Amino acid sequence: MPAEYTGKISRTHAGVNEVAGQPPKFMALEAVTSFFTFGGELLSNPGPVGSAVPSSRFLARRMASFLPRSPKGYIVELGAGTGAITAALLTRGIPADRILPVERSETMVKLLKRRFPSLNIALGDATELRSLLKTWLPKDPLEISYVVSSLPLRSLPENVVVSILQEIYHILPKHGKLVQYTYDLRRTPHPRLSGFKRCRTTVVWANIPPARVDVFEKNGAAH
Ligand SMILES: C[S@@+](CC[C@H](N)C(=O)[O-])C[C@H]1O[C@@H](n2cnc3c(N)ncnc32)[C@H](O)[C@@H]1O
Repeated sequence: MPAEYTGKISRTHAGVNEVAGQPPKFMALEAVTSFFTFGGELLSNPGPVGSAVPSSRFLARRMASFLPRSPKGYIVELGAGTGAITAALLTRGIPADRILPVERSETMVKLLKRRFPSLNIALGDATELRSLLKTWLPKDPLEISYVVSSLPLRSLPENVVVSILQEIYHILPKHGKLVQYTYDLRRTPHPRLSGFKRCRTTVVWANIPPARVDVFEKNGAAH
């Protein structure tokens, strides 16, 4: 008999397996739902979605591997989409109350809330990150130590990218990190990423399409 669905987050599996006690049929249904929700968003709003399919579990795992299991502060996840990266962060062992996913699409947020009932998920635009965090971050003195981003910075309009990068720069402390992937496999970082220096870079081939993952550190210089 399958275990009773408890709705609890288990950190032992990535991808669609993150809800403890879900029967396999339910998990397969979640995967299919994620796939079609993503496809629907892509058709109705291709620019902000920026890819044909959700991130693979290999890409998600690699992104998560750059984060400490017990971060000092919060991790803000931008463009959480169907939650592939979110699931990998939980699987890595990062506590659910330290992960703050942000997503602009209402449809995706509904899916994320169903998938991760214990996470505090923000519906909003990364161009308004600071005001979004003001109303939504728990009122305690913890800082934001990491931003993990699936935002398609190479395909969003330039003014949007500039404004998002400014928001990220302002919410991070000096030496705070931004983990970002891109489908542009060249080593040249995004030209608008001034104020950050790249400290790690790697290519994940097992993704459609293959992706480069970069880790940037805020360097504290004027931006
Ligand atoms: C490449 S997709 C996300 C892929 C995600 N890793 C997954 O596997 O589902 C990019 C996501 O960023 C979201 N997005 C794009 N622009 C945004 C913005 N300005 N603020 C917040 N989310 C945004 C899109 O709605 C989309 O869900």
